[in-house]
Amino acid sequence: MLQFEKTFIDFLLEHQERHKRSYNFIILMNSIMNAGKRIQYYYSTGALRGDLGLEGSVNIQGEEVLHMDLIANELVKHNLARSGRVIYAVGEEEEDLIRMNEEGGRYFVYYDPMDGSSNVPHNLPIGFLFGIAKRDLGGAEDMHLRAGREFIAAGMFVIPTGTFTIALHEAGCWRFHIDETFNYVKPTQIFIPENRKTWELSFNSANRRTFAEPVRKWIKDNEGQFAFRYMGSLAGDFHRILGNGGLFLYPAIINHPDPKKNRPQGKLRLMYEAAVVAFMAHEAGGAAIDERGTPILDIVPEQPHQRSSLYIGSKPLIEDIAKVLKG
Ligand code: AHG
Ligand code: MN
Ligand code: MN
Repeated sequence: MLQFEKTFIDFLLEHQERHKRSYNFIILMNSIMNAGKRIQYYYSTGALRGDLGLEGSVNIQGEEVLHMDLIANELVKHNLARSGRVIYAVGEEEEDLIRMNEEGGRYFVYYDPMDGSSNVPHNLPIGFLFGIAKRDLGGAEDMHLRAGREFIAAGMFVIPTGTFTIALHEAGCWRFHIDETFNYVKPTQIFIPENRKTWELSFNSANRRTFAEPVRKWIKDNEGQFAFRYMGSLAGDFHRILGNGGLFLYPAIINHPDPKKNRPQGKLRLMYEAAVVAFMAHEAGGAAIDERGTPILDIVPEQPHQRSSLYIGSKPLIEDIAKVLKG
């Protein structure tokens, strides 16, 4: 039986043609697909090459760098630059703004090339997350510190699982699966389920005592209703929330017994983690806020590697916890 599956690029061509848009975004997305496929390849074969361990250095976030972080970062940078469509990129592993095509580039790209590092030595799921904003030639043209509200697209590859999920501005959140020809095929639109029966709760429970009192209380009062799931990779955990609904949270850490370990801003990075999943959740009918109850999409970053607390998932749960956080 011959297969005539619609690939992601077919899907995007149709989308751009329907909206009478140029092909620049397709050219950019083609480079992101190439990076995603290469990360998939290197990650799946990493154990055979002995590439799943530490590299030996510490990154700008103060975290130990893995070989895989560097491989994935190089793959993304190289492919973005080759597209010729990127003016600047911000990447987790790069302290400085990555300058690409400053003359002709049209897009800003924010990326986490390898999300969920603690899973790497075990070859368990990690993510490649990205958000895209458009250069505004009429305004503060080269302003790369954009709020999620201004993204035109955001997405994630879950690797080596082989799924690619992308949200397009006002055009929904879509899932594709990798096939044996290394194409992402079979577009399916994703809506966070409204039926509470499948909803899950996802957070690092070892941190529970360090959360603000109202957050601890909310968890205590509500956790009995949900199954508890935590993978330690935002991409993987959020993938489950997209499928089953519920709440993923990485709150501010303010009551750590060792005050040096407090993280009042939370752990996750705003531009290439929190805003990416917030944009996707929004297009899938969900919502995301920070510790003050502010929608993640409204936060204008002051610096590229800024952190944010994150509460993301089904809208009624976010509305409920927002009241607690604001109160
Ligand atoms: P990264 O691997 O890019 O540094 O991100 C790790 C993040 C995120 O993926 C995950 O949700 C969270 O850190 C896990 O943190 P804990 O180990 O503190 O639970
Ligand atoms: Mn990450
Ligand atoms: Mn990372």
